[in-house]
Amino acid sequence: METAAFIDEVATRLVDYLESKDPNERVNPSRSLASMRRTLDLQLPLEGHGMDAVLDDLDAFIANSVKTHRPEFMNPLWGGLTLPALAGEIVASMTNNSMYTYELSPIATVIEQTVVKRMCEMVGFPDGFGTFTTGGSNGNMLGMLCAREHLISGSTKNGFDGRSTVIFVSAEAHYSVLMAANVIGIGHQNIIKVQCDEHGRMDPDRLQEEIAFARQEGMRPLCIVATAATTVRGAYDDLEALSDIAHREGLWLHVDAAWGGTCLFSNRHRTLMDGVDKADSVCWDAHKMMGVPLICSAFLVKKPEVLRRLCDHTNVAHYLFHADAELDDLGRYSLQCARRNDALKLWLDWRARGDAGWARMVDERMADADHLQQNIEDHPSLEMMSSRMWTNVCFRYTVDDDDVDLNDLNTDLRNRLIQEGSFMVSRSNIGDDVVLRMIVANQNLDRDTLDRFLARVVHHGQEILRGLPAA
Ligand SMILES: Cc1ncc(COP(=O)(O)O)c(C=O)c1O
Repeated sequence: METAAFIDEVATRLVDYLESKDPNERVNPSRSLASMRRTLDLQLPLEGHGMDAVLDDLDAFIANSVKTHRPEFMNPLWGGLTLPALAGEIVASMTNNSMYTYELSPIATVIEQTVVKRMCEMVGFPDGFGTFTTGGSNGNMLGMLCAREHLISGSTKNGFDGRSTVIFVSAEAHYSVLMAANVIGIGHQNIIKVQCDEHGRMDPDRLQEEIAFARQEGMRPLCIVATAATTVRGAYDDLEALSDIAHREGLWLHVDAAWGGTCLFSNRHRTLMDGVDKADSVCWDAHKMMGVPLICSAFLVKKPEVLRRLCDHTNVAHYLFHADAELDDLGRYSLQCARRNDALKLWLDWRARGDAGWARMVDERMADADHLQQNIEDHPSLEMMSSRMWTNVCFRYTVDDDDVDLNDLNTDLRNRLIQEGSFMVSRSNIGDDVVLRMIVANQNLDRDTLDRFLARVVHHGQEILRGLPAA
């Protein structure tokens, strides 16, 4: 098949996918995993099947994928798709530049520098810099590693004994901090989970006590990881209070703003992150609220030289790095060697919308979440399960009957939504309670979908109470 004909075929599939308005289309595939293994030919052949088969394989893939662009997809902290960002993703793959050196990715380097510097300005690091990473998990790890390099100078080169080194995080922090504790060599048990207040924010007084206790026990406090906003409840830690403690105690403050960093665009909501300028590092996922396709995540640091030291590979990679481009080779600020160009898609979307477009998006998402919350509060069979700061709406179906186990009911309810392919929403826990965690982030979400969603939740809740089996 000719290149143009093949690309046309692929483009037709893209358009069909994006423009599908079929209200009956499922958000997730109906086939079970077992049936998929049984019925689809996914084996790698000895002799190739040729280009036509590639198109058939693409059709099978699309048909059996979760439709994350549909408004009914509201499970994780991302969803929907915008055209500029999709175009950036495609062209980044096509040009296939790798971000390690300026020589091999000239314009991509300048674009990444532009985006990183702008994000640094937004968090209040005027002289800061950073890098794109493989996600917020990786950004949290870089924050912890920078803390290590900063406080235990030379540990990047000399190694360190992590046994008594401790890091303080919110009890509701994302699990990536545990994964990072393993990688940086301190171990899960040296992550100290600080109790939260009733809204899910790290309690500064408890933090202060935990630090004092750790010092008393002969531990070495290294860093505080604050969260803006948390994964389940969308709670923003009080960054002013935590930065005061960090400065007083001489600790690094990393802010995990993977989910909530986008509030900084909005005049109305940016106060959620007041004090972020006093932190040392921040991670911020553009693939979450900003809707840029996975992966698009920035790690930002106030003092670029710390990241530079952390990523220093001396001059062993003489086949890539030379002194003449020392200041512009982004591979000197990353732990990766080959690295995708993830900045292009964000840059294109940002250029298309401007700061004002992102601000409108944040305000609209928050207003949609307010709308959802209001409808939940107004409904006698629904209840909010947490206060709200961001667009996480944690709620459940409820009934005034002690014989009904609400955890079982809501688990069943959520399974029915998935089974019928109508909506995808997360099942989470707050304390001992099972909640439906609804996220307003999908770029294609609208009020009609939110209303349909609640109606379906109520429908299933009623059917379960009546003892009716799933359809
Ligand atoms: C608060 C928070 N931090 C970090 C992460 C990890 O981000 P990523 O999935 O980009 O690694 C998540 C993911 O949901 C998150 O909610």
